[in-house]
Amino acid sequence: MDQHHTNLMGTVHGGRILNLIDSVAGVVAARHSDGPAVTAAMDETAFLQAVRVGDVVHVHARITWAGRSSMEVAVRVTADRWDRAVPPTLVATSHLVMVAIDEQGKPRPIAALLPETDEDHKAFRRAQIRREHRLALRNALADPDEAAA
Ligand SMILES: CC(C)(COP(=O)(O)OP(=O)(O)OC[C@H]1O[C@@H](n2cnc3c(N)ncnc32)[C@H](O)[C@@H]1OP(=O)(O)O)[C@@H](O)C(=O)NCCC(=O)NCCS
Repeated sequence: MDQHHTNLMGTVHGGRILNLIDSVAGVVAARHSDGPAVTAAMDETAFLQAVRVGDVVHVHARITWAGRSSMEVAVRVTADRWDRAVPPTLVATSHLVMVAIDEQGKPRPIAALLPETDEDHKAFRRAQIRREHRLALRNALADPDEAAA
């Protein structure tokens, strides 16, 4: 990270980190779905520690759930402090919904996700819970009576 990425406090702007998260999630989604994918939702982004100028930022992303055309991508962002005085620090986590699209920009079918390890199965179940919450929220807010507030 360099000076171009800083906010008024001199640390790295959250928007810059969100940009990295979105970009890497897009790569992972495109690889799983074998074609282009767009961001449908970005949620549960937590900024845990400030990122500083000189930090080397690493973005790790993996598919945790896949449906007919959508995927959940879980992202972890770590920073190596420039002097490596401390071990790599977890600075942000996020979950995104990416949707595979065709030439017309319409959702297209994707390969199923086959969890293998216990950790994969746990991540899959947790992703399913988040999906149910997202869709319930979307449906509730689409209801004119609920959306009035
Ligand atoms: C994402 C987009 C293609 C979805 O199109 P749509 O006509 O609403 O499609 P659908 O309602 O059939 O949804 C497609 C899938 O996405 C899921 N989805 C869409 N919005 C979602 C949300 N907010 N939360 C969770 N899932 C969502 C649906 O559940 C469905 O999943 P499934 O196929 O795995 O069952 C469309 O809304 C779009 O183009 N949005 C703009 C994307 C964009 O420009 N992103 C920023 C730049 S990359």
